[in-house]
Amino acid sequence: MKDMNFEEYEVGYNIPAKPGMSFDEIQTPCLIIDMDQLERNLDKMQADADAMGMRLRIHGKMHKSADVARMQIERGACGICCQKVSEAEAFARNGIKDILVSNQVRDPAKIDRLARLPKLGVRTLVCVDDPENVADLSAAAERHGTEIECLVEIDCGAGRCGVTTSQDVVNIAKLIDAAPGLKFSGIQAYQGAMQHLDRYEDRKEKIDIAVAMVKDAFQALKSQGLECDIIGGGGTGSYYFEGASGVYNELQCGSYAFMDADYGRILDENGVPISQSQFASSLFLLTSVMSHAKPDKAVVDAGLKAQSVDSGLPKVHGIEGVEYIKCSDEHGVIADPEGKLQINQKIRLIPGHCDPTCNVHDWYVLVRGDKVEDVIPVTARGLAW
Ligand SMILES: Cc1ncc(COP(=O)(O)O)c(C=O)c1O
Repeated sequence: MKDMNFEEYEVGYNIPAKPGMSFDEIQTPCLIIDMDQLERNLDKMQADADAMGMRLRIHGKMHKSADVARMQIERGACGICCQKVSEAEAFARNGIKDILVSNQVRDPAKIDRLARLPKLGVRTLVCVDDPENVADLSAAAERHGTEIECLVEIDCGAGRCGVTTSQDVVNIAKLIDAAPGLKFSGIQAYQGAMQHLDRYEDRKEKIDIAVAMVKDAFQALKSQGLECDIIGGGGTGSYYFEGASGVYNELQCGSYAFMDADYGRILDENGVPISQSQFASSLFLLTSVMSHAKPDKAVVDAGLKAQSVDSGLPKVHGIEGVEYIKCSDEHGVIADPEGKLQINQKIRLIPGHCDPTCNVHDWYVLVRGDKVEDVIPVTARGLAW
């Protein structure tokens, strides 16, 4: 990282490694990024978006890293999404200039902070699904002399935020259009519930429903003279469907950059796991064996506090015949029936779910070959308000 003074940090005490170290010297447990693979993932997604004529607004809630976001923007991404005002502030402070909070912001103090972001030179966008939210956003923008761009969110199948009829979309869009300090910028329609369905055909079926809802809303808005600059949605498990829809124009993919074990198992149109055919894991939880007192089990130093297991346990990368089978706070147990693993051996785990795993780490150690290339902070780590 350009502006970092590594002199202030002591390896093992407050940072897991320093640039130039060898792989074996990295302190565990920590997150490492295989830079060659990360670059391949970023290049592929940008190339796919370009080929479909889509803008790519990457989702920063996954990695929470301003440095990784910059790599994505340098490749052509138009900006980022994040999920919380605190995340948006962290990205804004670190130079990201186009930020969609792809979520509802209702708390008055948070609305006020959101309305200040444009003062940092940030194009600021947010989602709205309730007419009452419009007046609050407008008052805050006026108070600060700023502009907030608003997308009306459609619940197109995920069953969380968003309205469900085109009439509601039009009603809210008209209010936004008339509100001082606000700009109506389009539609947010992310179908989150289908991203992890195994079968390609099942995912397509769900997105077809979403696309029909979005087309209907788009036409209803048009008939009222309301133009959409952005029609956004799409994730790693669906972006090719939104890209081919003829109505979406921005993709919001996040997980493709790192890929986790849960996402990697979903299947492409040929029935091949996408981790084999599209985006391989670039993020690993590096852990070390600290006990092998039982001949058939190795105990490693990455347990619950180093990862989220909500989507399943991590997978051991690159070693056959061993399996991470359980964890407690500071311990992970790896079944090792053939006694392959050695004390202090470093093992790469593919996290079950990358987003909440990244959120509990301060640093990413960037690795190329067997050298530490750099160490970067998890910029918005822990920020959830
Ligand atoms: C609103 C929104 N857009 C995009 C994404 C990114 O999706 P993915 O990580 O599946 O690429 C998410 C992830 O949950 C999301 O909540």
